[in-house]
Amino acid sequence: MNVLLLGSGGRESALAWKMSQSPLLDQLFIAPGNPGMKAYGTCVSVDWKDREALSHFCTAENIDMVVIGPEDPLVAGLADFFEENPALSHIHVIGPKAAAAQLEGSKDFSKQFMERNKIPTAGHRTFTASQLEEAKQYLTTIDAPYVLKADGLAAGKGVLIIDNLAEALHEMDAMLGGKFGSASSKVVVEEFLDGIEFSVFVLTDGQDYMLMPEAKDYKRIGEGDTGLNTGGMGAVSPVPFVDAEVKKEVLLHIIEPTIKGLKHEQMDYVGFIFFGLILTKKGVKVIEYNCRMGDPETEVVIPRVDEDLLPLFVDAAKKKLLTRPMAQTAHAACTVMQVSGGYPEAYPKGHVIKGLEEHVEGTVVFHAGTAEKDGKIVTNGGRVLCATGIASNAAQALTQAYNRLDQITFEGAYRRNDIGVDL
Ligand code: AMP
Ligand code: GLY
Repeated sequence: MNVLLLGSGGRESALAWKMSQSPLLDQLFIAPGNPGMKAYGTCVSVDWKDREALSHFCTAENIDMVVIGPEDPLVAGLADFFEENPALSHIHVIGPKAAAAQLEGSKDFSKQFMERNKIPTAGHRTFTASQLEEAKQYLTTIDAPYVLKADGLAAGKGVLIIDNLAEALHEMDAMLGGKFGSASSKVVVEEFLDGIEFSVFVLTDGQDYMLMPEAKDYKRIGEGDTGLNTGGMGAVSPVPFVDAEVKKEVLLHIIEPTIKGLKHEQMDYVGFIFFGLILTKKGVKVIEYNCRMGDPETEVVIPRVDEDLLPLFVDAAKKKLLTRPMAQTAHAACTVMQVSGGYPEAYPKGHVIKGLEEHVEGTVVFHAGTAEKDGKIVTNGGRVLCATGIASNAAQALTQAYNRLDQITFEGAYRRNDIGVDL
């Protein structure tokens, strides 16, 4: 089978690492990929936005399957493009159609979906620009903290949690006034939920689903969960507080009704669903859906998957998936991100990365923001790379991951040294 994977981050590195081990794989192409992914396949400079080039590439290389890593192409309708194009419609696409990707692409859509399907989530109201005064009036009737969310995709920056009313009113003005462009033409105001966050993932064909290992992500830049939000500074799997009882609640009240809802509402969904969840005093609630895997969650979830992904992808694309848990190892996996100094604000690029040739038993390094320059591997993003440790317990997995990162240096490198210590 010839597979084209779209994306270039740590998530796609982990997916490429896994798929490259499949006996069903003939060729793996990655567009655009990164230097670390060259170990798993052939990186090609095809831009998914250039549909003519993408279409030519798929035909020329006899691509049988396209795996779409990030959300942007999904929300923009790339899966629909393959199905609607007679020359490409035989290709299995892993990733939902645009209408179903709205579960991530529009917060208002996902809140309405959850309400219709009685899935536990924070209470909410949605406002458009013409309802600015009503929105501000509403804010004066509720208590802090105020949770304001841009409806559309805003590169992870569209959620604001604000402690005082004056600032919330000001932000409401700014957001409905176009702070995030068309993404904030609607603003969702949510009830604040207090609790501990974790994520679960399924692979689905829109009718059946396979439960994958759960994960916990560390979003803040600073140790002790302080400072600015990032894309994620590290992750662990399994998550100790996600015990059998919590899992049962998630399956019964969240995953099952979501899959039933997709089916009932005839949403064409082939791919991963990422359930961003929070364990509150009143039970588990959904914070958000994503129509893709998480990053860095994938870097711990995928190493714990103990079966070949490619046959499962084929079954999903053919809508023949069976509802069962995905086989998983008893190992723990922990990943730690090494980021550029300054991230998540401005940071330099182009620093040479040293120590990549070293090795620590039971670790895998996944590249995220790296590039090649004059034969050297250099930094090319905020999140540069991560090391995943895999061991019989989380403490050992973390030790391995940190030992591996100790070997890898570049100017300004930063990481959190407290990943997993709270668990
Ligand atoms: P989202 O993009 O919707 O996942 O929101 C980003 C982050 O904001 C989440 O991971 C939470 O940490 C936080 N958050 C979002 N919604 C709420 C809420 N209703 N209550 C408390 N925290 C929230
Ligand atoms: N790590 C959070 C995400 O992938 O959305």
